[in-house]
Amino acid sequence: MLQHFDPRNNNIQVFIKDRLYPREAAKVSVFDSSVQGGDAVWEGLRVYPEGIVCLDKHLTRLQESAKTLAFTDIPSKEMIKRAIKETLDANGMNNDTHIRLTLTRGEKITSGMDPRLNQNGSCLIVLAEWKPLVYDNNSGIKVISSSQRRNAPQFLDSKIHHNNLLNNILTKIQANVAGKDAGLMLDERGFVAELNGSNLFMVKNEKVYTPFGHACLPGITRNTVMEMCAAEGIAIEEADLSLSQFINADGVFATGTMGELTPVVEIDGRSIPKEDALMQNVLKLFKKKVRGYCESF
Ligand SMILES: Cc1ncc(COP(=O)(O)O)c(C=O)c1O
Repeated sequence: MLQHFDPRNNNIQVFIKDRLYPREAAKVSVFDSSVQGGDAVWEGLRVYPEGIVCLDKHLTRLQESAKTLAFTDIPSKEMIKRAIKETLDANGMNNDTHIRLTLTRGEKITSGMDPRLNQNGSCLIVLAEWKPLVYDNNSGIKVISSSQRRNAPQFLDSKIHHNNLLNNILTKIQANVAGKDAGLMLDERGFVAELNGSNLFMVKNEKVYTPFGHACLPGITRNTVMEMCAAEGIAIEEADLSLSQFINADGVFATGTMGELTPVVEIDGRSIPKEDALMQNVLKLFKKKVRGYCESF
C-alpha cells in the first residue's frame, strides 16, 4: 500500500515552535535534534468534526515519552492544544485530517548527541494534512513477517513513542520488496509483537486476543478496542501468540489512528478469513463509536 500525494495539501500551513509557516517554508534547522539523532517524540492524531480521537491520551503519551527521554521543557497540554487549534483553523480542517504531532529536543549549539547541547528549547511541530483512512478497511491488507525484531525494554522501550523508527522502516522495506501492505514484527522470543505501524488482534473460537504490550507500542486504538470489548461483554485477552496462531485464526485485524480497524487477509501467503461474525461485530462497533471518542478543545 503506497499513500498518494493529495493536492489539497499543497498549500497547508504548518506550526513549528511558535508560529505557522506555509508548507514550502516549514523546515527545522540542520542542528535540530531530530535531524542529528532522531531525538524526538511524536503522535498521530485523527480529526473528526466532533474533535480529535482520544486527544488527552495522545498528549499524555507524548509528554510521558518526552519525560522518559529527559526533555527539560515539555509543553503543557493547553499549549499543545492551542497550537493544534491554530493549525486546524488556518487550514480550514475539521474532517478527513491526520495530524503528525512531533516534539523534538530542539536546536543544538553544535552537532553532537549530548542533550546539554540543546540550549534553545524544545520544538513542537503540528503537521496537519488532508488524509482519509489510509487502508481500504473492507478489502483488508496483506502482510509478511519480517526478520527485524520489535524492540523490547532490554533494547529500547517500545512504550516510548520516539522517532528512531529504523526497525519499523526496515520491516516496511521488507514488506515493500515482497509486494505486501505491511510487515509483521516478532518480539525477541519469536512471538508476534505488532505490524510496522499498527497493533494486531486475532479472533479464535469466539474470543479476541492481542499480544502482550512489552514489545509493541501501547497503541491508543488498541487500548480503546480492549476497553470497548470489555464493556460489550466480548471476551478479550492479552497473550503470547505465535505466528501459527495468527495464521490459523478465525480473523485478524490491525489497529491504529492512521487506518483505524483493518482486517488482515493474508499472512506470509496464507489467507485469513475476514467474515468471522465476532470480528465483524468488533469492526462495526468501533466504527459506530469512534466519533464518541473525539474530544473537542
Ligand atoms: C509501531 C506502531 N504501532 C502501533 C501504532 C498505533 O498506535 P495508535 O493506536 O496510538 O495510533 C503506531 C502509531 O503510531 C505505531 O507507530
